[in-house]
Amino acid sequence: MWQPSLREGTKPLHDQLMEALTRDVASGALSPGTQLPPQRDLAYRLKIGVGTVTKVYAEARRRGLLTATVGRGSFVAGAAADGAADALIDFSRNLMTTRAAAARFPDALLALRRRPDLAEHLTYAPPAGMPAHRKAGAKWLAAQAGLPNADWQRLVVCEGGQHAMALAFFSLCKPGDTVLTEHATFFGMKALAEQLRLRLVGLAMDKQGLLPDALDKAAAAGAKFLYTIPTLQNPTGRVMGARRRLDIATIARKRDLTVVEDDVYAPFLRDEADLAPIATLAPERTFYVSTLSKMIAPGLRCAYLLTPGDALFERVVATIRAFSYAPAALGALIATQWIEDGTADDIASAARKDVAERAVVAVRILGKHIEGPYAKAAPHVWLPMSELKAERVAGAALRGGVAVTPPGAPIVDGKDIAGLRLCIGAPADMPTLERGLKTIAAALAETPNAMRAVV
Ligand SMILES: Cc1ncc(COP(=O)(O)O)c(C=O)c1O
Repeated sequence: MWQPSLREGTKPLHDQLMEALTRDVASGALSPGTQLPPQRDLAYRLKIGVGTVTKVYAEARRRGLLTATVGRGSFVAGAAADGAADALIDFSRNLMTTRAAAARFPDALLALRRRPDLAEHLTYAPPAGMPAHRKAGAKWLAAQAGLPNADWQRLVVCEGGQHAMALAFFSLCKPGDTVLTEHATFFGMKALAEQLRLRLVGLAMDKQGLLPDALDKAAAAGAKFLYTIPTLQNPTGRVMGARRRLDIATIARKRDLTVVEDDVYAPFLRDEADLAPIATLAPERTFYVSTLSKMIAPGLRCAYLLTPGDALFERVVATIRAFSYAPAALGALIATQWIEDGTADDIASAARKDVAERAVVAVRILGKHIEGPYAKAAPHVWLPMSELKAERVAGAALRGGVAVTPPGAPIVDGKDIAGLRLCIGAPADMPTLERGLKTIAAALAETPNAMRAVV
């Protein structure tokens, strides 16, 4: 039963109780769907007036932290709908909990109402976004992505990382061009290549991601563009070390490649490693993609694309003008407020903590099936296995009510790579995560090794 501790003589009891509720919802100590104590019980146990509790519950409902059903009581908001216990447990998409952002969202809206410049956000922004939002983007890159000196004048506000990638490749390439990638990559890149009629060539990886020799060979054969995910590579979770990044940057220079560095997972590693983005090693030729979707909330549709120089910045701006004229201002405005007042850093810390706790559970349940070394705060883990076995495990998991990423979805060139990606941030809460992982463990145990089955 929830019972926060209140201290006499500090702040008003109402404020203390409201803060405790907000904090516990944000941290997950009160998870979605949890029933709060009846108002009278809580007042009795805290030795405060029931009117104070009633006021706090009402305010929490107004802020969207709680929901109330007549006759049943008050519940922490965000729970799955009734009957969802029978719904699929979803490991297939790289979603993180938005609980910490949701807890702060009502306050962000109140702050918006007080802004003297609110109405300015109703007109068209410049195509690259409002200067204040671009400056906040540069601050985000410095605080969370290891780019201390990003020039906001070369940064474009985008509506998601996928949009940033689309802008970069539309501005760079024409139909028929070849883009080099890791041999398994983000499915969104495959979708983009299909629409832009680009030819993807998948290059071999080792445990540190893209192999420099494979890149050098492919570039020598004439390719001009590289799309790479150096940090917590999607789908494998592999991380390029400092030396590897330098080697890739050196080859890009030698072969005159333009690089799109998709580093949307870099903030997860911020506390574990200090790895320079390729964009700091070869800034004259590297587009850098960062999004708030993973650390803060995808619904903001706010991401940043750092361009390599004035000419390419202008090309991206021309592309934006052609497609949407300018980014929508409201999501970026909330993001800017949160970056400026420190809320974004707090939410990002909560996201890292949440994912790190999930990774511990994943390793406990799936153990040796997970490819190591894995990062402490890895939002997805990779289970290498043959293509046939991956398909069978995915099928068995689905029959048990668990969805995983279709094994073929990320594959560009399947000669040397096959396996299952599990997005461990996606299940709604820890008990659901644990149930889902146990189903996958059972599916692994009941699926014969495909090679042996063939023999
Ligand atoms: C590697 C990678 N890049 C880009 C994106 C897209 O980011 P957004 O959701 O902000 O469009 C994702 C989302 O899963 C991703 O995994």
